[in-house]
Amino acid sequence: MNALLAENFRSRFGRGPLVTAHAPGRIEFIGNHTDYNGGTVLGASIDRRVQVAVAPRNDGRWRFASEAKPGFVEMTASAQPARRADAESWANYPLGVLSAFREFGLRTPGGLDFLAASDLPAGAGLSSSAALELASALAFLELSGQQAARDTVVKLCRHAENHFVGVPCGILDQGVSGFGKKDHLVFIDCAGPSFAAVPLPEGVRFWIFNTHVKHALVDGLYAARHRECMEAAEFLGVSLLAEIAPATLAAAQAGLPEIPFRRARHVVDEIARVNATVAALRAGDLDEVGRRLTASHRSSRDLFENSTPELDFLVDRLAGAENVYGARLTGGGFGGAVMAFTHAGYAAADAERVVEAYAEKFGNRPDVLPVRTADGAALD
Ligand code: GLA
Repeated sequence: MNALLAENFRSRFGRGPLVTAHAPGRIEFIGNHTDYNGGTVLGASIDRRVQVAVAPRNDGRWRFASEAKPGFVEMTASAQPARRADAESWANYPLGVLSAFREFGLRTPGGLDFLAASDLPAGAGLSSSAALELASALAFLELSGQQAARDTVVKLCRHAENHFVGVPCGILDQGVSGFGKKDHLVFIDCAGPSFAAVPLPEGVRFWIFNTHVKHALVDGLYAARHRECMEAAEFLGVSLLAEIAPATLAAAQAGLPEIPFRRARHVVDEIARVNATVAALRAGDLDEVGRRLTASHRSSRDLFENSTPELDFLVDRLAGAENVYGARLTGGGFGGAVMAFTHAGYAAADAERVVEAYAEKFGNRPDVLPVRTADGAALD
């Protein structure tokens, strides 16, 4: 059990936790907005994570605390909890998981104290919310003496995000946090979904440049892109865009309005890029991998229109720099962070030069976070 987390739990609740669990954040390596379109995607679980500690209560109350917030979010245990708003909205992630338990035929703990801690920057596109869901689900299962297959846990957490939190996300974030493996990428075929580990060669590194710039309407923009993709699929007579081959889309272009065509083109090409990236990784051709990553960013910028000038600037600086294979926005877009995939020779001083150029242009500094791969969610 994690000693510091247990200690913090004790000082909040006056007794120790019974169960602790953790779940990593993730990088979206390549496969931008392909997941909810039934496509393929590659991600990596990282060495930044959310930790959760829980203990049972016998008075039928649920009390949620976060190390990042003062006080508690408190309520009577319920099979159908109500959503929380404003300063309490962080609790919608564990609450959404509890609400999904019932829908997946699982029992919810009758009473509990809950503490979450995180070293994942929120809003950087590293999926701190999925990590909170996964760690919560594992802790709740253990606390209530139940077991569930890993893919059920992943689907349950996505269900919480879609139906309780209200974001129409795909399976990427929860799948990677749940199935991550150190020194590997997670390949997801979202049509199943099915999950597989793809080994990474030695001596590669990941760098995150977090701009802290985020479009104010980011959730609404994500939902808008989701809608546009579904409309494009309908125009094309398929249920999901992954069913369309690149040549079929090209042939259908004349009959499609401009926006649905662009969104479809991004998704269809991106799925092909994911598959080409897997092949290049297997062949050990990291330059080719990098070219695909950077091409993915350009497609987000031009066709999916979910980039920002700040993200574009970082990618332009990084792609082609010495020891950098490729760079792209990571996650939903409309702000957040850029990921650079590099050789181990890329150093903090190289990253600092990028930060300085950025600061000169935009007047503030992005955070730089070198990250490594890590294993997926687990009980401690
Ligand atoms: C967010 C969502 C994911 C995925 C990415 C974009 O991270 O939560 O499901 O759609 O954006 O690829």
